[in-house]
Amino acid sequence: MNAAVYSAFRGPITVQTLPDPEPPPDGVVLGVRANGICRSDWHGWMGHDPDIALPHVPGHEMAGVIEAVGRDVTRWSVGDRVAVPFIAGCSRCPQCLAGHPQVCDDQFQPGFHGWGGFAQRVALHRADATLVALPASLDFVAAASLGCRFATSFRAVTQQGRVQAGEWVSVHGCGGVGLAAVQIARAVGARVVAVDVAPSPLSMARKVGAEHALDAGQVGDVAGAIADLTDGGVHVAIDALGHSDCVRDGIGALRTRGRFVQVGLLPDGPVPVPLDRVIARELVIVGSHGLAAHDYGRLLDLVASGAVDPAALVTRRLTLEQGAALLCELDGAGLGGMAVIDRFSSI
Ligand SMILES: NC(=O)c1ccc[n+]([C@@H]2O[C@H](COP(=O)([O-])OP(=O)(O)OC[C@H]3O[C@@H](n4cnc5c(N)ncnc54)[C@H](O)[C@@H]3O)[C@@H](O)[C@H]2O)c1
Ligand SMILES: [Zn+2]
Ligand SMILES: [Zn+2]
Repeated sequence: MNAAVYSAFRGPITVQTLPDPEPPPDGVVLGVRANGICRSDWHGWMGHDPDIALPHVPGHEMAGVIEAVGRDVTRWSVGDRVAVPFIAGCSRCPQCLAGHPQVCDDQFQPGFHGWGGFAQRVALHRADATLVALPASLDFVAAASLGCRFATSFRAVTQQGRVQAGEWVSVHGCGGVGLAAVQIARAVGARVVAVDVAPSPLSMARKVGAEHALDAGQVGDVAGAIADLTDGGVHVAIDALGHSDCVRDGIGALRTRGRFVQVGLLPDGPVPVPLDRVIARELVIVGSHGLAAHDYGRLLDLVASGAVDPAALVTRRLTLEQGAALLCELDGAGLGGMAVIDRFSSI
């Protein structure tokens, strides 16, 4: 099979011919039809993730067709179309037993703990508990981001953020996670202020429903500007990038008893949090990590109804080679949408 491989962090990513994987006893081999490129892949390539062993095939945001099934798998058959929640829980640890496999103590993440979806085929573990059947109406390119960014934002907005109709939400960083959060917040009836530092993410945020879009590079006091626009501050703020500026602005933009949701990764370590403000205003700060496979039903309902439209965020369809090249450049300006690899066999 073709796969994009790197042998050094921050080193070249090249498309090579590798042996096809075998299905693990509890898993499947997925024929990857589409793989979205998430900033977490960039963090991995940069060396921010200690779980990655070299050489490595990145990619954790995929949809495809099951091509082979391990001997212990009961729920899936060859030919099934699936999305792949990027965190496969173990089904045995206290978190999994409590219904929270998204924070499993022994998680398997394709593209981090094992080789991922920058390839024609990928071996996926723990298939019975962790894969999600795709409705026939949803094509693979649209479905890829259900594996990570749409699912993550669904949990961040509806479960951890508990956003209600009529509330204000600010989204800090409008890449794939942030734009998905804008769509989902709108779908549940919230009003959105989007924040980014580049024009195309801001214009896409407006297109998918943000009422206001602020350029943090031009607005000096982002939190103050949001408070003015929202009659005293937002009910929920989401750091959808992972940056101390977004943490400061998001917490600063909250109204009294507001909720701050951290989604973006912060590989450089702790960032300042104004705990005095957290006490005085009874603010709530929560993290959000992926989405449990058993919680996909309502997200798929929102997609089926058209209220949430992952396809609207796909602005680039790439070959495997193009995807590998883009991954190395993700630290630059925002794409204003999502890039998805949908051709894997160009060599
Ligand atoms: N918690 C989870 O489960 C989870 C899941 C998926 C992704 N992530 C993380 O979420 C983050 C976002 O991922 P993505 O794929 O959407 O990223 P992305 O690269 O597509 O988007 C980042 C956006 O932030 C903007 N930006 C840059 N500097 C900014 C600033 N100072 N203020 C505001 N905006 C700024 C960029 O222009 C871009 O539009 C990453 O850290 C990723 O690793 C976490
Ligand atoms: Zn991701
Ligand atoms: Zn577990």
